[in-house]
Amino acid sequence: MQGDHMTPDDFRRLGHEYVDWVASYWERVGELPVQPPIVPGDVASKLPAVPPTTGEALEGVLADLDDVVVPGLTHWQHPSFFAFFPANTSGPGVLADIISSGLGVNGMNWSTSPACTEVEMVMLDWFVELLGLPDHFRHAHDGRGGGVLQDSASSSTLCTIIAARNRVTPGGDLSKLRAYASDQAHSSIVKGARVAGLADDQVRSIPTDAAFAMDPAALAEAIDADRRAGFVPFWCCATVGSTSSMAVDPVVDIAGICAEAQVWCHVDAAMAGSAAVCEELRWVTEGADVVDSWSFNPHKWLFTTFDCSCLWLADSRPLVDALSISPAYLRNDATETGGVVDFRDWQIPLGRRFRALKPWLVMRHYGAEGLARHVREHVRLGRLLADRILDDDRFEFAAPPALNLVCFRLTGEDPDARTSALAEAINGSGQALVTPTVLDGRPAIRICVGQTWTTERHVEALWDLVTASAD
Ligand SMILES: Cc1ncc(COP(=O)(O)O)c(C=O)c1O
Repeated sequence: MQGDHMTPDDFRRLGHEYVDWVASYWERVGELPVQPPIVPGDVASKLPAVPPTTGEALEGVLADLDDVVVPGLTHWQHPSFFAFFPANTSGPGVLADIISSGLGVNGMNWSTSPACTEVEMVMLDWFVELLGLPDHFRHAHDGRGGGVLQDSASSSTLCTIIAARNRVTPGGDLSKLRAYASDQAHSSIVKGARVAGLADDQVRSIPTDAAFAMDPAALAEAIDADRRAGFVPFWCCATVGSTSSMAVDPVVDIAGICAEAQVWCHVDAAMAGSAAVCEELRWVTEGADVVDSWSFNPHKWLFTTFDCSCLWLADSRPLVDALSISPAYLRNDATETGGVVDFRDWQIPLGRRFRALKPWLVMRHYGAEGLARHVREHVRLGRLLADRILDDDRFEFAAPPALNLVCFRLTGEDPDARTSALAEAINGSGQALVTPTVLDGRPAIRICVGQTWTTERHVEALWDLVTASAD
């Protein structure tokens, strides 16, 4: 058997052991240091410099996972992981990934695996229902709009920039194009613009207000000024739930300005979009009915094992026009009829995996009620932490707490240096992981509650750690 293809029987036996290993990892991850103290090269030095010449039994890899890999991980699935935005995994998400890999289909065209495309279309329509998004985002609505799964919010953004770019200058001069996003927008906006052929200064950074939300008047002025100077405003991103502080741009106002200026309006709700599973938090989708595109990442907060990002378009044609190239080897009867969706035209790569199995299993496992219950609990825990900060005059908020995110800093003497030291102490302890950030030019500590197994006990332990380390 060595060095040969694994038989289905061996796969079955070994697969049980590997799944068992993952289950055991989840059972013990809470006991591990969230971020181990390692230096660059530590992990690589434990691996042979050259690949094996002959095959070996893969049972031995499990020991290496324990000895080489696990000590070198930042444990994103640790219940005391409060850093960045989460990438909360789940049993159904992982099982779906296994099935997707096992099926090994490439759903680039409808015809290359119809189930891959059709399950995805239905899942995107399910998400519309789950989040209360506008009906015209459904594939089942009138066929003009619809949603697609991407690997990441960065890809979702890039696709919309390319669609908008193509709408104004199909194949033409890009130098006059101008894009807009707030000074709090994610770095993937500028990166997307770069990939689409724009220079960084072609993305205008629009100032934000005291709550870090885009100032729509400043956007209108910037668009006007650019037009007068002979530039071509073409794309704007409104952020719903900014990375640093969960700020929410006024989407309706921004969309109105964009519509008047014929600028594509995209919403990046990468993290905050998930909150819409709770009826009372549906304000995060405000304005979705008047924008050109809207995206969020179920892989952040909806237990949909990384990676999985949803992108909806009010009208898919500009994107398909921009990305569709049909050499002979991709042509087929189904495409020719015009009656099917070929998702290869809705994304940058040609090939695509059966990613839709993940949201399918996740939604079937939790149901809309289960997802809402968990998200609501994370928001409650975020508020609990915010209340502790409010009641303790050693601390102050660095931004208004929102949803499951709290940003704060120390008060008193030399607060900036002590805030940075506090973040280092928390992270150095291995007991929890938070993100040091900068807000208003000053250091702040940013805590996001959203890992699958985080409970009130972990938030209380974090608060004890914060207060003990602050003394
Ligand atoms: C607001 C926002 N947009 C976009 C992104 C990029 O996400 P991705 O890693 O899916 O490209 C992030 C990442 O955290 C984010 O916070």
